[in-house]
Amino acid sequence: MLQKITSDVYYVGASDRRLAQFENLFPIPRGVSYNAYVLLDEKTALIDTADAGVGAQFLAQVEDALGGRALDYLVIQHMEPDHAAMINDVLTRHPQAQVVLSPRAVPMLAAFTGCDYSARSTVAKDGDTLCLGRHTLTFVHAPMVHWPEVMMTYDAADRVLFSADAFGTFGALSGNLFADEVDFMREFLPDARRYYANIVGKYGTQVQAVLKKAAALDIAMIAPLHGPIWRQDLAALLRLYDLWSRWQPEEKAVVIAYASMYGHTRQAAETLAALIAARGVTNIRMYDVSVTDVSEVIAEIFRAGTIALCSPTYNGDLYPAMRALLDDMKALGVRERTVGLIENGSWASAAGRKMTEALAEMKNMHVAEPMVTLRSRLTEAQLGELDALAAQLAESVTQA
Ligand code: FEO
Repeated sequence: MLQKITSDVYYVGASDRRLAQFENLFPIPRGVSYNAYVLLDEKTALIDTADAGVGAQFLAQVEDALGGRALDYLVIQHMEPDHAAMINDVLTRHPQAQVVLSPRAVPMLAAFTGCDYSARSTVAKDGDTLCLGRHTLTFVHAPMVHWPEVMMTYDAADRVLFSADAFGTFGALSGNLFADEVDFMREFLPDARRYYANIVGKYGTQVQAVLKKAAALDIAMIAPLHGPIWRQDLAALLRLYDLWSRWQPEEKAVVIAYASMYGHTRQAAETLAALIAARGVTNIRMYDVSVTDVSEVIAEIFRAGTIALCSPTYNGDLYPAMRALLDDMKALGVRERTVGLIENGSWASAAGRKMTEALAEMKNMHVAEPMVTLRSRLTEAQLGELDALAAQLAESVTQA
């Protein structure tokens, strides 16, 4: 059934609950939605297409929404195939439709579709407008949020910002299209944070630039390409994006990420957690990096200001899953965290040095003292040292 998000805009997106991994990389047990929108005015416009996995449903909904009318414009905000896979199908069905896209999208459109649409394309510079009748669309370039060609679309008539990937989240939609119709903070926030951190996290500086552009607009509704649409409490969403894009923690919290082959490093990590808790800290979460997907641990590191990393030595380096986590932290620009370290090595321990070196390649990471070195297992004699580390980490939480 077709649903409207404003008097003139139909939702023509769809949700995929069968796809195991977004970008064939990130587990999405709650699925994902690919949002797209048809705007009916004197002229008609389709804002983005969809992933091939929901292509048939998407195409049928576009035709339903058009109700027999021709499509005048296809606005391409983003060329990533989760939104662009159906472009050829739409343009074949609507041979008179004009394509509206950013300059950086032009070569991508040709490369992805294998077709030359230059004769029916309008290239939109930042700030260009397109009048559809009552609605005039303004195109707001948003490079690197999440690819270089991305642009958002602002409809001043209804004060809607079609925000491309920005403000999106993993998680399928279940009838309710709006964030205020679901318990977003309980149902979607962990996936929204994980989506942001892993998909857009590297580009915080560019997200900050977009937030400044958005602040100049009078916005009543934010319609992203994934997840619920926002029409209430936009300040809560913008606050989260502001924190995430400055790599600032959301909460006074500790995240302990450990690797452990036979349980000895885990035991030390659990003792550290208990010693931190004994100091009155309540927001502590632990993750085994061999069990929990790295995208979830990264999201938790975006949430918390205090981190502990605990790793065995493996082939003279870090345990592979811990190496993957640290590589990801660096790639996504994680910074300004207090980090406690526990290393383990039965002989030729190297994990502590390797973790310290990796953290030194990130910005403003404060390594708490002392680093605790295990020789195979935690001993009674080391409890004082571990407690001293717990004290430093607890203090960093309370002072955050
Ligand atoms: Fe949802 Fe960057 O595509």
